[in-house]
Amino acid sequence: MRIGLLDSTLREGEQTAGVSFTVEQRVEIAKALSEAGVAMIEAGHPTVAPDIYEGIKIIMKLKREGIITSEIVGHSRAVKSDIETAAELEVDRIAIFYGVSDIHLKAKHKVSREEALNIIAEHVRFAKEHGVKVRFTAEDATRTEYDYLVEVVKTARDAGADRVSIADTVGILYPSRAKELFQKLTRDVSGVEYDIHAHNDLGLAVANSLAAIEGGATIVHTTVNGLGERSGITPLQQIAAAIKYHFGIDVIRLDKLPYLASLVEKYSGIVMPPNYPITGDNAFLHKAGVHVAGILSDPRTYEFMPPEVFGRTRDYVIDKYTGKKALKDRLERLGIRINDEELDKVLLKIKSNPASRTYNDAELIDLVEEVTGRSLKPKPPDGIEAVVSISCDSNVYTTTITRKLANIPGVTELMEISGDYDIIAKIKVKDVIELNKVIETIRSIKGVKSTLTSLILKRL
Ligand code: COA
Ligand code: ZN
Repeated sequence: MRIGLLDSTLREGEQTAGVSFTVEQRVEIAKALSEAGVAMIEAGHPTVAPDIYEGIKIIMKLKREGIITSEIVGHSRAVKSDIETAAELEVDRIAIFYGVSDIHLKAKHKVSREEALNIIAEHVRFAKEHGVKVRFTAEDATRTEYDYLVEVVKTARDAGADRVSIADTVGILYPSRAKELFQKLTRDVSGVEYDIHAHNDLGLAVANSLAAIEGGATIVHTTVNGLGERSGITPLQQIAAAIKYHFGIDVIRLDKLPYLASLVEKYSGIVMPPNYPITGDNAFLHKAGVHVAGILSDPRTYEFMPPEVFGRTRDYVIDKYTGKKALKDRLERLGIRINDEELDKVLLKIKSNPASRTYNDAELIDLVEEVTGRSLKPKPPDGIEAVVSISCDSNVYTTTITRKLANIPGVTELMEISGDYDIIAKIKVKDVIELNKVIETIRSIKGVKSTLTSLILKRL
């Protein structure tokens, strides 16, 4: 099975109410998507706004330099000036959309079915004359009479489109119908490949996309965090994980999903709920005692796949739903051993706490001390160690910054790395005040874009 993703966070994603990306953000998102290995990036509709045009221009430069490797798609109406603008940016592919259902033909385009076919043929041909690959998007395809849809696809193909996107524009597809539609299209029209563009108005975008793959679609449209018009489209993280689980295919680098999700959360300002699949805070966080007991024995009991596959880790919380096995395990991890009688007492306290809340490690230690009367507090350490991950501006030499870092007192080790950060610095200092000073000094170095500090915790 040959299957790839087209991510449209920069086009459909920016059609989310309240969302607008800057040029720099567009470029950073495109780089992250390419690094994750999406087959195609729909980088925007260049005639919509100058910053979209500018973003695509820089993205194409990075493409030529080999920094971005995904195929870059520019969006366009069936309007010659739209096509020319996309073509002058030298995108790899122009995607021309046109509403083909009777509703769209009548209400928007005010043309007959026959006239629409001529418009589609003319504009696909016009784009092809500019030497680019062309995808035709049959907007509202799922509310289009099947025989006419076949004519539309044949027209686009004969005019030079090698791909046709079947857009479920208002999200009314149903999985079994999706599979059947793609099966019929691949059977009735050869010489063209199909994309599925599934809107999520009924929450069925992922299911419909999976069914479309079964029916023969070879590209699935996604956005990071499922952004898009109204309720959005198929979320990248959910479809990538589902394709891995159901078809055994790594359609992208799955361990890049948490970074992509948080990058797009930051730039879109749209925060995902904790129970969001795959990248949500709770996606691999367990709670009920029976579940945690199962997980401790074999994580497969309550996880469809190990979190590490998706660059995540598993954990569990302690609260009134906790059982003895979970509590014992948590305390042992904290280096605390108590007898069964004490364990029962601690658990009873947790369960009968009227505030009924989650206990963090420090609160749990306090509680155990209260119940057992023993002091468990670790002695204060005689120094602290931290790891600071540093990312540099793209126009500076990492090595220059590494040299400057080496001169800062307290920095004990340096490593240049590739990925989301450029340099890792290990720091050993007396206390937090000194640590903050060192971090401030690092941040003041010209060319240092951002830092992330993690303390090295040691059990004393
Ligand atoms: N092909 C050709 N023309 C289309 C079309 C298509 N697929 N879809 C809509 N149109 C036409 C409409 O018929 C209408 O034309 P008219 O002005 O001659 O009646 C026009 O495009 C849309 O109306 P409006 O938005 O008022 O036109 P505009 O000229 O002010 O702006 C855009 C056009 C595209 C620049 C503007 O709508 C925009 O910035 N849109 C954002 C991108 C977008 O809408 N994407 C949809 C992706 S599914
Ligand atoms: Zn859409």
